[in-house]
Amino acid sequence: MERDVSDTDSAAGTTVTGTANAALPANGNDVGCGTRGVKLAAAGVSKRFGGFVALRDVSIQVRERTIHSVIGPNGAGKTTLFNCLTGVVPPTSGVVMFEGRDITRMSVHRRARCGMARSFQVTNLFQNLSVIEGLRLAAQAKTGLATFDFFRPKERLVRAMSDAESVLAQLSLERWRDIKAGELSHGQQRILEVGLALASGSSTLLLDEPTAGMGVDDIEIMKQLVVALSRDHTIVLIEHNMNVVLNISTTITVMHQGSVLVEGPPEVVRSHPDVKAAYLGREC
Ligand SMILES: Nc1ncnc2c1ncn2[C@@H]1O[C@H](COP(=O)(O)OP(=O)(O)O)[C@@H](O)[C@H]1O
Ligand SMILES: [Mg+2]
Repeated sequence: MERDVSDTDSAAGTTVTGTANAALPANGNDVGCGTRGVKLAAAGVSKRFGGFVALRDVSIQVRERTIHSVIGPNGAGKTTLFNCLTGVVPPTSGVVMFEGRDITRMSVHRRARCGMARSFQVTNLFQNLSVIEGLRLAAQAKTGLATFDFFRPKERLVRAMSDAESVLAQLSLERWRDIKAGELSHGQQRILEVGLALASGSSTLLLDEPTAGMGVDDIEIMKQLVVALSRDHTIVLIEHNMNVVLNISTTITVMHQGSVLVEGPPEVVRSHPDVKAAYLGREC
C-alpha cells in the first residue's frame, strides 16, 4: 500500500505523501514553521527500533488553533509520532519544529516549558489527590514553582488556585471538586487528564486516544471539551472514534505502516479512495 508519489492537490487541500517526500529539506525554515500559522511541524521524521522502521519519512504541519487528528490502524506509528513530537523518543532522522524553533533534541521537560503538553495519566500522585488539588499542582508547575517549595509567594498560589478553579469549570467537574481523582469514573479521569494538561498553561495539547474506553455520554463531553479548547489551543489528537474525528477535526493525517498515506480536511479524507479501502471500509 506504500506509495511512491508525493502529490499535492492544493485546490482540494489534500496531500498524498509517500516515500518520495524524502526530498524535503531538513531545515527548520523550510518545514513550514516560518509560515504563519504553523505551530508544530515534523519534516522527514523517521524512527527505527533496531531493524524495524516504525516511522518512515513522516512530515506533518499542525496549524495554530486547529484540531489536527492522526488516524490509522494499530501499529501505524501514531504513538511513535507523538513520542517524537513530544520528545519521549528521539527521531532517528528528521526535524521537529515548534513555534519556529528546532526542538528535535529538546527534552520533554523543556518542551513542556515551551508550552507543549501531552495529557497526563491520572496515576500514582494524582490518584490520591482531590480533583482541585491535582489541577492546582498542574497550574503551579506553570508558575515555575517547585511542588515542595515551602517559601511560595502567596500571590502565585492564589493565581494557581484561581486557574485550577477555572479549568475545573471548563471540565464541568465542579461537583467532583473535592473527591479523589482515583474515585472518578473512567471517563471523568480521562477528562481530568486533559484538564491537567490545560491547567499547565500549555498552548498545544497532544491527546492520545482521549475517548478510549469511554461510554457515549462521556465521549460527547470529551468532544465538546476538545472543540472548546481549540478556540485558544492547538490540538493534536490521536483518535480511533471516526465519528469524533470526522466531526471535530480541521485536518486529518492518515498513517499506514509508519508513513503518511493521506492528509486533508475531513470531507476529503472521508471520501478518499485509499482511506475508504484501507481504513474505514464502511459508511462513516
Ligand atoms: N519502543 C519500541 N520498541 C520496538 N518497537 C516499537 C516500540 N514502540 C513502538 N514500536 C513498534 O512500532 C510500531 C508502531 O507502534 P505505535 O506507534 O505504538 O503504533 P500506533 O500508536 O499507531 O498503534 C508497532 O509495530 C510497534 O510494535
Ligand atoms: Mg498508539
